Amino acid sequence: MSQLTLSIIKPDAVQRGLIGDILKMISDAGLKIKAMKMIQLTKEQAEGFYAVHKERPFFNDLVAYMISGPVVVSVLEAEGAIEKYRKLMGATNPEQAEEGTIRKRFALNIEANSVHGSDAPETAAVETSYFFNQLEQVG
Ligand code: CMP
Repeated sequence: MSQLTLSIIKPDAVQRGLIGDILKMISDAGLKIKAMKMIQLTKEQAEGFYAVHKERPFFNDLVAYMISGPVVVSVLEAEGAIEKYRKLMGATNPEQAEEGTIRKRFALNIEANSVHGSDAPETAAVETSYFFNQLEQVG
């Protein structure tokens, strides 16, 4: 069944000029881009997006990193899009990511790990609607 997932190309990747390389990997993997924009998150927006992690020790650093520069958010569609994109991203910690994954190729460390993808259908629904309304999902 066709499924949606939210992708974020994070500040470390945008700053290093990797938007095009990452979008090509997304496209080559058969994930269709339904919506996309580049934005500068505010502190409040980053805190809201990562609210599930607010008790974690890395939360403040994560928010500071996510507002350190622009990000590219997109809605991706495919059969099993959530799992497909998680496989393409690789493990959260790039030291554990498999060859050929986005994080193995580009991530700097466990925080500056270049990309985010939704981890389940419930979070995908919340995360896509956090950044895009129905009318913006055109692809
Ligand atoms: P992401 O998949 O966007 O989900 C939470 C983010 O927190 C994660 O990617 C990393 O950017 C960041 N992070 C920093 N430290 C950790 C950690 N120890 N475990 C998990 N995520 C971390």
